[in-house]
Amino acid sequence: MIIYLSLVIRKTNLFMKLLKILVIDDEKLIRWSFEKKLNSDKIKVYTAGSGEDGIETFQMEHPHIVFLDNKLPKMQGLDVLKKIKKTDEDAVIVFMTAYESVDVAVKAMKAGAYEYINKPFSFEEINIIIKNITDKINKDKEIRLLRREKKDFITFDHIIGSSEKIKKIIRLAKKIAKTETTTILLLGESGTGKDLFSKAIHNESARKDKPFVTINCSSLPETLLESELFGYETGAFTDAKKQKKGLFEVAEGGTVFLDEIGEINQATQLKLLNVLENRTVRRLGGTVDIPVDIRIIAATNRNLKKSVEEKLFREDLYYRIKVFQITVPPLRERKEDIPELINYFIEQFNRQFGKNVTETDPEVLKLMMKYDWPGNVRELRNVIERAVILETDNILYEDCLPGEIREHNCNEKKCNPYNFILPDEGLSLEEMEKEIIRQALEKTDYNQTKAAKLLRISRDTLRYKKKKHKL
Ligand SMILES: Nc1ncnc2c1ncn2[C@@H]1O[C@H](COP(=O)(O)OP(=O)(O)OP(=O)(O)O)[C@@H](O)[C@H]1O
Ligand SMILES: [Mg+2]
Repeated sequence: MIIYLSLVIRKTNLFMKLLKILVIDDEKLIRWSFEKKLNSDKIKVYTAGSGEDGIETFQMEHPHIVFLDNKLPKMQGLDVLKKIKKTDEDAVIVFMTAYESVDVAVKAMKAGAYEYINKPFSFEEINIIIKNITDKINKDKEIRLLRREKKDFITFDHIIGSSEKIKKIIRLAKKIAKTETTTILLLGESGTGKDLFSKAIHNESARKDKPFVTINCSSLPETLLESELFGYETGAFTDAKKQKKGLFEVAEGGTVFLDEIGEINQATQLKLLNVLENRTVRRLGGTVDIPVDIRIIAATNRNLKKSVEEKLFREDLYYRIKVFQITVPPLRERKEDIPELINYFIEQFNRQFGKNVTETDPEVLKLMMKYDWPGNVRELRNVIERAVILETDNILYEDCLPGEIREHNCNEKKCNPYNFILPDEGLSLEEMEKEIIRQALEKTDYNQTKAAKLLRISRDTLRYKKKKHKL
């Protein structure tokens, strides 16, 4: 995390700048030749002489490609491969075997190796393999970015973050998306991305061409919620002039997203339980049970288990919907995702507001990494939106951040970095500001850009203040 702090974020580069390669082989000569032949300003080779070391290096460095030897002391190559794949399903592993061990190569491919190569090999072969893999990685990245452009069609590519925590739940969600009817319960604080997940799951499931119907259970009064969900027959109640299909029927073949499920009342809970158990719905005032083919995804930022304990939520329904539970972690528990999210939202708002913000002042990033984000990704998105709108210099400075994030910094550290003590008789803040600005300008030979940088404000703010103080 510390690395991020010393960096100035630039616009995300479409293609990778440094290709990381890990070589796991007990033969010193092989490790040495990889290093000698490949290390450059574009490629960094990491090496490990044993499977255990290799796995550890993999987890620390997240290399793009792993060259893995089959014959290793203690742990066999195949086991190392399986272990790496378990921690990162997308790991690209090139398996190195001797000619005679074709069956091992086959096994490796089955276990998820990307490619295998027979020993001895030439570096020409290795270079071709590397080129093919990087071409593929770049192509995939390009496709992902293109797909992201299509805003309305949310997929997992729209869920930003490469922390282990988020990657793990994305993997999980991708798996569950493939199942047809499994009910999913999305838990997590407000603004963590539950909506986003529900859409991605639907759009990456076999149901994607069928409706995705979403209903916020807390936004409707009880009776309306029931008639929306289950529909009604003519005359079911005073206003039921015409028969109406409920959302479960409307969603036929698709997905129903029940947002804020923790808010529904007991009577509706029971009806919902019936839908889940029998896969049928009965309209209000109706007598027939209509079969429905839907998947239900429910979400809540409440502690449902506690609601069950407090008898506010039916236990049987709880167990029915938590068949598969995904908890989206709060942003403060995966702060590594912050720089990537900042870049993503900057690009998004640059497009939206026709801006060209290209950099984030390191101080801003530092503050954002320190802040705890009680409103999670939604709050971060709003902060960036505001900052992009306010910014005039193409660089996001501290003065674009809302007070709570700036103050937070202050509360946390000894907040008096300049050992400043307010005199008993007080002082004029205006005069003080004027004096500080005057000094900053003097220090920088009246270079406004430099002076603004010293004061961590934008050039426009400085210009405004200069005028105000008649400097
Ligand atoms: N990992 C992420 N990558 C990109 N955008 C995200 C991510 N997580 C959340 N967002 C964005 O943050 C905002 C809030 O997300 P979302 O509405 O999915 O949260 P939620 O968990 O459903 O919140 P609530 O409980 O308040 O309904 C949305 O604009 C969403 O697109
Ligand atoms: Mg939501």
